[in-house]
Amino acid sequence: MIELCHVYKTYPGAIHALRNVDIHIKKSEFVFITGPSGAGKTTLFRMLAGFDQPTSGKLQVAGFDLNKLTTLQKPYFRRKLGVVFQDFKLLKDQTAIENIAMPLVIRGEKKSRSLELASVFLQKVGLENRQDIKTESLSGGEQQRVALARAIIHQPDIILADEPTGNLDQERSEEIMNLLEFCTQSGMTVLVTTHDSDLVRRRKQRIISIKNGEVVRDGRA
Ligand SMILES: Nc1ncnc2c1ncn2[C@@H]1O[C@H](COP(=O)(O)OP(=O)(O)OP(=O)(O)O)[C@@H](O)[C@H]1O
Ligand SMILES: [Mg+2]
Repeated sequence: MIELCHVYKTYPGAIHALRNVDIHIKKSEFVFITGPSGAGKTTLFRMLAGFDQPTSGKLQVAGFDLNKLTTLQKPYFRRKLGVVFQDFKLLKDQTAIENIAMPLVIRGEKKSRSLELASVFLQKVGLENRQDIKTESLSGGEQQRVALARAIIHQPDIILADEPTGNLDQERSEEIMNLLEFCTQSGMTVLVTTHDSDLVRRRKQRIISIKNGEVVRDGRA
């Protein structure tokens, strides 16, 4: 489902954000990407999501060759992904439920049907009492949960969640992780970056650790 072969990403000024990264992830796998701040986790996610290209190396995601993704292919590729950005990227002047419904509306689903399904996902992330509040007025943790619900509502093949529990307390983090793990049961492949080593240890999932842009470990807790 995800194949990286000898992937390098170098930013101007000789900043080597990723070096010789080889990662192979199968359908329905759940994988944590860990590593200290500045290790290259977000850089990796940006490339997997097709927002950026490797400086060198091969990158295949969901059957698309990301080294030569055409403008025409891009929207089809994006539909296969659900992305939770580290900084959420919500539409601030829209309500929680409208944000969550957005991926369906974009795909041409009727607004009423989209909102109906969005309310189911609001419940899944424990935000049913925040439905009609604009996201600019929500707390960081609430915004994070809106971002997650928006990422999974269209049943993507792959979920890329960059620090999805960064603003949550332990109890809420566990709920969100349960939800993400549950997604793999319906065939989704889930990648989660996190700093939270205790959380990772409790989950017993595959862990890929990155340090200074290199994979330093790939295995189970
Ligand atoms: N657009 C950019 N231009 C130049 N350097 C960049 C750019 N984006 C990231 N970097 C650098 O690449 C390295 C990896 O950054 P990245 O954001 O991937 O780290 P991270 O592991 O996500 O960190 P954090 O845990 O703090 O989110 C850092 O040294 C960062 O300064
Ligand atoms: Mg990051």
